[in-house]
Amino acid sequence: MDFQKEYNQKKAMVDAALEQYFNDPTKPYARLTESMHYSLTAGGKRLRPVLVLSFCEACGGDVEAALPVACALEMVHTYSLIHDDLPCMDNDDLRRGKPTNHVIYGECTATLAGDALQAEAFRAILESKLPVAARAECARLLAEAAGIDGICGGQQLDMEGDGKQLTRNQLIEIHTRKTAAMIRAACLMGIACGNGSEAQIQAAETYAQAVGLAFQIRDDMLDVISTDAELGKPIGSDAQEGKTTFMSLLGQAACEQEIHDLTDQAVQAVASEFSNAAFLQALARSLETRRS
Ligand code: IPE
Ligand code: IPE
Ligand code: MG
Ligand code: MG
Ligand code: MG
Repeated sequence: MDFQKEYNQKKAMVDAALEQYFNDPTKPYARLTESMHYSLTAGGKRLRPVLVLSFCEACGGDVEAALPVACALEMVHTYSLIHDDLPCMDNDDLRRGKPTNHVIYGECTATLAGDALQAEAFRAILESKLPVAARAECARLLAEAAGIDGICGGQQLDMEGDGKQLTRNQLIEIHTRKTAAMIRAACLMGIACGNGSEAQIQAAETYAQAVGLAFQIRDDMLDVISTDAELGKPIGSDAQEGKTTFMSLLGQAACEQEIHDLTDQAVQAVASEFSNAAFLQALARSLETRRS
């Protein structure tokens, strides 16, 4: 298996599909449409949609049919980034190597772009051609990850922690909600699209929690050790906001060990339940040392 080739193929499918959304310049509110399209197509690794397609495929499902679901996940993710960058949140001006949405379109349009992307994600799922039960389950999983127990609850705790010394358990709670929840949704939505088994769901739960936590620990590391140019977003943002992170709490060596251990857990979790475990395992490993 050529991991990078397979990842790039799936990412290219997602990029091409996303290009088709919100590109109608004739609407009277075209500036809003344009701002949504701007952030959605600005780049990004497309990790979550690739996870949807990969888990669908690993259950023997039809990857093409899962594409709207994959796009929906990226819409919610992109909305969360637009709002996360706003002056009232992290106040960042660079995202995916480009000026943030509010820098180009202003705070009001950026807020509305996030609002609309979230609703449009559910529309994309519910208007897809998947069996009705799969659509309903995907919508439920996405609502669970985006809502109060997921991103929003996690972002609330993250914001309330500014300027405070948090404990390891408090950090794990924040990371689980603001980041791992969407990674979990991606894996489980892929399984729902592929009509996977209960055992596959259980394996994906373990994989997703471990990969999700490791992903945010690595994000916190990169905020310290990377550069704006390499990362495509401003480094030092966490320190500027006075955030406790795994980096500030434990230091780089302990973060690396933590990420390594979590990745081992993820690799083990999917070893026996899926047809293309090798890709899912290589994906987890690739995130361990990612540079952006
Ligand atoms: C950034 O997510 C926000 C976090 C949850 C850490 P990604 O690192 O997946 O950002 P993109 O989509 O590649 O830009
Ligand atoms: C935010 O975490 C995760 C979201 C839910 C958007 P960060 O604030 O660390 O994400 P980045 O570093 O700006 O991408
Ligand atoms: Mg933030
Ligand atoms: Mg941020
Ligand atoms: Mg960050």
